[in-house]
Amino acid sequence: MKKIIILILIVFTQNIFSQTYIPTKENLEARKWFQEARFGLFIHWGVYSVLGDGEWVMNNQNISINEYKKLPSFFNPVYFDAEEWVLMAKNAGMKYITITSRHHDGFSMFDSKASNYNIVEKTPYGKDVLKMLSNACKKHGLKLFFYYSQLDWFRDDYYPRGRTGNGISGRGTGNWDDYIEFMKSQLTELLTNYGEIGGIWFDGEWDQMEWDGKRFGKKMMDFKLDEVYRLIHELQPQALIGSNHHIAPNAGEDFQMFEKDLPGKSTKSFATSENDIGNLPLEVCETINGSWGFNLKDRKHKSKKELIQYLIKSAGYGSNLLLNVGPMPNGRIQKEHINSLKEIGIWIKNNGETIYKTKRGPIDPSDEIASTQKGNKVFIHILDSNKETFFIENFNPRIKNISYYKSTEKVDYIKNESGLLLKVPNNKKNPIDTILELEIHNF
Ligand code: GLC
Repeated sequence: MKKIIILILIVFTQNIFSQTYIPTKENLEARKWFQEARFGLFIHWGVYSVLGDGEWVMNNQNISINEYKKLPSFFNPVYFDAEEWVLMAKNAGMKYITITSRHHDGFSMFDSKASNYNIVEKTPYGKDVLKMLSNACKKHGLKLFFYYSQLDWFRDDYYPRGRTGNGISGRGTGNWDDYIEFMKSQLTELLTNYGEIGGIWFDGEWDQMEWDGKRFGKKMMDFKLDEVYRLIHELQPQALIGSNHHIAPNAGEDFQMFEKDLPGKSTKSFATSENDIGNLPLEVCETINGSWGFNLKDRKHKSKKELIQYLIKSAGYGSNLLLNVGPMPNGRIQKEHINSLKEIGIWIKNNGETIYKTKRGPIDPSDEIASTQKGNKVFIHILDSNKETFFIENFNPRIKNISYYKSTEKVDYIKNESGLLLKVPNNKKNPIDTILELEIHNF
């Protein structure tokens, strides 16, 4: 009996070990960099932008394979200037860019030998925009991540198909293992032809997961994550892997992302549940208007206040914000979005210290207030410009001093065993964010 138990234990622990992923030193350093970076630019750009109806247009309008194939011949972004995009991001205070290398429509926005359905072969533009961006990012000190869709509405070998794209006619059948090999070839290209990259941002695993409208269930097809992730980490150990699957992190991932929701908030049906938040670096992604890919009729441009406050709240959760723009098919970014990014840049130039390299503060973010922390400094961000008193229950840190940020003027407060009461009169308020600097005792 004893022997059997020992044998079971050995088999069990071996199994655990073979599944355990131990990040390399380079990877851990990259995670640290990522956590401190706090702000990045997301770019959804593909041949879908020609139709000005978002990146899901192929699925939403049930465009057949033969019809969709005509789109690349209209994609000619003559005004594209990689350096302009990179400087726009840099001046907005962003430290990295994540761009779609291949979205669900299956079109590769880079020079790929693994598929000729790509920007170089099939568009009049004929240039590898990822290469141009990667050169500009290197020149200006930003990191570049590649979004990569695991789901594909175009290829025959993405078979059995998933839950989406089933109204698209002309899709063939093929072999799943071929599809995995194809992805590995493309990922190898992305990890060898563009120098050192920031990482890979996967999306689409949810297409092969059961879904009852509220919760994800069983995984239907196996994306062979162990093989794919190992390949990436072998090719570039510092490359961070994240996946937008909305469930708890899979083994081998280096950061966890939240789509259109702050970590633990569930305003979207597909939100990651609070219980599934792991202990990896976090990243929230959100759109600057209401769409990811270019959408001509999208008028839901978020205000400067909304955008800056979302960045503050994300940081208040200890998370990065990856803010998306969907460039137009001519290679330009909409004026409204360029302006918003400029405004964020001005704000962050003055207040970046309270965002970059901070961790989650002792006051949980809400619409009224948020906090970030750096050593024994807590930055309290007052987001509600109408209220004058703020009560924080169970506030434990021992306060040395509270003053207005970048000023010697003291803030009025009362602290007792039930919490902390802050008094911030309206004439001291900034309509977007009034920052207080709280110094705490180390003991
Ligand atoms: C969703 C959408 C996709 C978008 C992504 C960005 O997964 O399917 O179009 O790229 O979110 O977070």
